[in-house]
Amino acid sequence: MDYKSLIIPEKLPRHVAIIMDGNGRWAKQHNKPRVFGHRNGVKAVRETTEAAAELGIPYLTLYAFSTENWNRPQLEVNALLHLLVETLSKEVHTLMDNNIRLDAIGDLNALPQHTHRALLEAIEKTRDNNRMTLILALNYSGRWDIVQAARNIARAVAAGELDPDKLDEKQFQSHLATHHIPDPEFMIRTSGEQRTSNFLCYQLAYSELYFTSVLWPDFRKEHLYQALVAYQQRERRFGKISEQLA
Ligand code: IPE
Ligand code: IPE
Ligand code: MG
Repeated sequence: MDYKSLIIPEKLPRHVAIIMDGNGRWAKQHNKPRVFGHRNGVKAVRETTEAAAELGIPYLTLYAFSTENWNRPQLEVNALLHLLVETLSKEVHTLMDNNIRLDAIGDLNALPQHTHRALLEAIEKTRDNNRMTLILALNYSGRWDIVQAARNIARAVAAGELDPDKLDEKQFQSHLATHHIPDPEFMIRTSGEQRTSNFLCYQLAYSELYFTSVLWPDFRKEHLYQALVAYQQRERRFGKISEQLA
């Protein structure tokens, strides 16, 4: 099925967020260690990023490492962080060639120093690119994001810069890690799990959710097209009734 030809360009989401899941199970299916799955997930990252840029989607967020992922075996955590640095250095030219800007959300200061540095370097190098923004959620969790926003707001109140009675959603959002990015209209999770695992909890409030059993290392452009076709068939009512939407 050629899903790409079914996509309506005018109805594309501005922001697609993806929980890349299933690397470990993919490795297990191939009788290999979990890290083999993570390595093979890089191709899916490349394909998805390229497809999103080609379609003209302005923002793509990939959940790469959650605050809970620190609880994995130390060897796996190290391998994941190492893979990140390696991929950044290998792929930064691909980002430049494709005019893609890199960004990151999460508690980045708590990353190991050389991981943090490699990340900031790639972000700096791609800062003037403007075809698409690729956002890596790294050491990210939705609850962390809400709490750090609350902390900033409390600070502003304590400094007398903000009247608590004037705090509204717009103000609140301006303190989230995603303050400069529109909320994702569409969230995809691979591997068949049907949960959001502490991803963008505030920002996903009205997102369309899409779950596929495809394991992340097997995810290809065609899967993204298929997901987007499904997205375009949804009716986003935002509390209204169908008849009001036409
Ligand atoms: C996603 O794949 C990668 C990260 C969470 C970093 P998993 O490693 O969670 O793979 P499964 O869920 O064990 O198959
Ligand atoms: C979510 O996947 C985090 C990332 C994809 C980075 P997990 O595999 O860690 O989620 P759970 O633990 O199954 O919910
Ligand atoms: Mg998983």
